[in-house]
Amino acid sequence: MIRTHNISFSYKEYEKSEELDPDDFRLISEARKAALNAYAPYSKFKVGAAVRLTSGKIVRGANVENAAFPSGICAERSALSNSVSNYPDDKITALALAALTNDVLTENPPSPCGNCRQVIAEEESKTGKKIKIILSGKNKTHIIDGIGSLLPLQFNGDNLRINLP
Ligand code: THU
Repeated sequence: MIRTHNISFSYKEYEKSEELDPDDFRLISEARKAALNAYAPYSKFKVGAAVRLTSGKIVRGANVENAAFPSGICAERSALSNSVSNYPDDKITALALAALTNDVLTENPPSPCGNCRQVIAEEESKTGKKIKIILSGKNKTHIIDGIGSLLPLQFNGDNLRINLP
């Protein structure tokens, strides 16, 4: 017996900032500010992330590159580590992302790399709360309701527990 499973997903695209929820727009502004602090001398691609917590706090992160390339860290993981390290009991409810090339906002919204998707997924499964993913370009924002659609059939703690007593 062979079954075909289809997975589809939808996301919202906003062209005008006035159409966005004001809290989401604020989070985007924070991500854009965070991008200015990136250390990206090798790629010249500066990424900023900002996460919103249930308490209302906003925590920022930026990509920090290294001459030994794998030692660098992306903006999303930088923001998540910052948030978990400083506010371990608070839950992340949204994450905004912005990127600059040559110090100018990219036209197209950046999208989290595979590593970052996995780390965002861990956070969702830890807290049991979906994280609203807000990807902002210069005049275009994509909003995705949770990491599940960006990382279907994901590997998480449940996979490890399957065969445990
Ligand atoms: N980068 C991020 O910060 N986030 C992503 O999701 C994609 C890539 C960074 C890593 C590296 O410093 C630069 O962008 C170019 O790949």
